[in-house]
Amino acid sequence: MIKDISNLQTKLQTLLTTQKSLYTQGRVADYIPALAEVSAEKMGVCVTTIDGKTAGAGDYQVPFSIQSISKVFGLVMAMNRIGDDLWQRVNMEPSGQPFNSIIQLEWEKGIPRNPVINAGALLVADVLTSHFSASKLAFLSFMRTLAHDEAIYIDNYVYQSELAHGNRNAALAYLMKSFDNIESEIPDVLSHYFTQCSIAMSCEQLANSLLFLANKGIDPVTNQAICTPRDAHRVNAILSTSGMYDQSGQFAFSIGLPAKSGVGGGVIAIVPNYGVICTWSPPLNSFGNSVIGTNLVASLAEELGLSIYH
Ligand code: DON
Repeated sequence: MIKDISNLQTKLQTLLTTQKSLYTQGRVADYIPALAEVSAEKMGVCVTTIDGKTAGAGDYQVPFSIQSISKVFGLVMAMNRIGDDLWQRVNMEPSGQPFNSIIQLEWEKGIPRNPVINAGALLVADVLTSHFSASKLAFLSFMRTLAHDEAIYIDNYVYQSELAHGNRNAALAYLMKSFDNIESEIPDVLSHYFTQCSIAMSCEQLANSLLFLANKGIDPVTNQAICTPRDAHRVNAILSTSGMYDQSGQFAFSIGLPAKSGVGGGVIAIVPNYGVICTWSPPLNSFGNSVIGTNLVASLAEELGLSIYH
């Protein structure tokens, strides 16, 4: 484990330098046009620890679109709100399919494989939409509370862009509704989902906001329970098996940390009983995971011996 944070700071800087030129190996997401406008050369990394230390390098304080990383927070909110009923409506198995695939959902009668593929996250968005009177506001306020930062905001430009190009997500939601697995009106579910994906946060804010998952559900800053230890375990288990989509097996095989990526280029990795790593670099590989972000987590995990399977 990392003892000396100033050594870590130097290590992060060195890692960024070695990765710098590799941004050409991926492609910035363009199916949401607003995301395609972000510079491919942006790059940041941050590590925060449950005992209150922070080390960061590069653009680690620059906000970016958190996209699918928001699925982690939505899941925690839904678990807190409806408890085990959630698992009647969504499964906890890896999908073996791209994150926005629709094929499996038809075979499996509108029950998504897990809460971090798009179908599952839309199901979770439905739970939030139907159980909170103002679900978008509740979500934003949850993020601000977790990150201890009232400056966190929804990027309306990204939101509008997602809304205008959200036909596949609409198809997933309508298909689930046809199987009676969605309660709210579809436009409301989509609006909630696109809102949470459009939240902008920096690596540092994201790393801070996820410390509770490294600390058995307790926010180490306030000592308040964000979720039960059992649910923190469950979220970490889902992130370990499905958080990096169809690359999750390879990620577990070579790195061994619960992690989640977003098409904005962010990757978060939870190091239980230690802290959180967050990286950002927009160019993505064919699975939809940040090329450099994944490399950075891999290098850090290997050099520092952070795998949960050790
Ligand atoms: O559903 C979408 O298309 C996006 N708003 C979020 C997808 C995403 O980040 C998938 N991650 N790799």
